[in-house]
Amino acid sequence: MGSEWLQEMSYKHVIITEFGGPEVLEVVEENALPEPGAGEARVKILAASATFTDTMVRKGVYYGFKETPPLSPGYDMVGVVDKLGVGVTGLKVGQMVADLTVWGAYTEYMIRPADSLVPVPVGLDPAEAVSMVLSYVTAYQMLHRIAKVKRGQKILAHGAGGAVGTALLELGRLFDLEMYGTASKSKHELVKSLGGIPIDYKSEDFLAKMQAVGGVDAAFDAISGENFKRSFKSLKKGGALVPYGFYNQAMGKGGNVALDYMSVMLWNILPNGRKASFYSIGDLRKKNPEWFKEDLGALFDLLKEGKIKPAIERRMKLEDAAQAHKLIEQAAVKGRIVLMVNE
Ligand SMILES: NC(=O)c1ccc[n+]([C@@H]2O[C@H](COP(=O)([O-])OP(=O)(O)OC[C@H]3O[C@@H](n4cnc5c(N)ncnc54)[C@H](OP(=O)(O)O)[C@@H]3O)[C@@H](O)[C@H]2O)c1
Repeated sequence: MGSEWLQEMSYKHVIITEFGGPEVLEVVEENALPEPGAGEARVKILAASATFTDTMVRKGVYYGFKETPPLSPGYDMVGVVDKLGVGVTGLKVGQMVADLTVWGAYTEYMIRPADSLVPVPVGLDPAEAVSMVLSYVTAYQMLHRIAKVKRGQKILAHGAGGAVGTALLELGRLFDLEMYGTASKSKHELVKSLGGIPIDYKSEDFLAKMQAVGGVDAAFDAISGENFKRSFKSLKKGGALVPYGFYNQAMGKGGNVALDYMSVMLWNILPNGRKASFYSIGDLRKKNPEWFKEDLGALFDLLKEGKIKPAIERRMKLEDAAQAHKLIEQAAVKGRIVLMVNE
């Protein structure tokens, strides 16, 4: 009886006690569940994405991130409400919910402010639902809130075989976009299956290709540096560049984030007939929290109607977080990885 009670109260989470490589991710067992305070909910996690952004948090190179170890990575999660703190209305124990946590979701249980939880429609697969939170909201908002693409327009998506790239393609296809996607050869079949025209960035010149088709209406670029410049040049008059990450810097391939920011701001104000503005899911959520809930809700509806199906290459266990990070940093993942928790 005693040990059963202890087992019920204990839970696992993945933590880092220092920034570093995948080996700093360790599984730790706690012997008491966290208790929700007023206005909070305890969530029993069912699925958490493992993403490139989590690897940046783990390495301590995620721009603007002020937390220091010990901490758990985990930018998003789907789970069920397990316990409510006082004063929480509008949520029920047992209900499935999602959240953009930024960090902390590699765990079996976590406490969240109740008002940041978004209800997940009954019947959705937790792994597919969690794919909507960071990657698909990013793709959706860049397409529809920032670039404001119109049906049938042309776009260029870099990293098209990755988590955000595949989301851009799936959502762009619903809008009949003509989509070009840079990816290494191993991901070309995936890009094609999602309606994209693959470009092997390692052997082909994407700028020349885009100029040959008359330029694109929007380019989505998380690679950074020289790539931003070439993406901007790929635009037709009236086109928009949406830079949204610094993949190369995060991978230690050089570059300068401050310089990139300044260049993009300059291109945006110069009278060149094109626009350029950074996208950040966190900044937009802070500025307009209702958009986040609305857009995530719209994505859950698309998922429920069977109009989208996220490319999940692997479902792994919480204990496999280090292996998941290794695969992501080797660019060995076609689509995305989801960590399945409390199965
Ligand atoms: N601003 C935001 O709010 C926001 C939100 C989510 C993610 N992000 C950022 O977006 C980026 C992508 O995230 P993700 O989760 O999609 O990562 P991911 O799943 O690891 O995908 C990145 C992809 O880029 C490809 N790639 C690497 N170098 C490339 C290059 N030079 N040109 C074209 N493709 C290249 C990689 O595979 P191959 O090399 O094999 O093709 C990989 O498939 C990250 O920098 C992340 O931090 C930003």
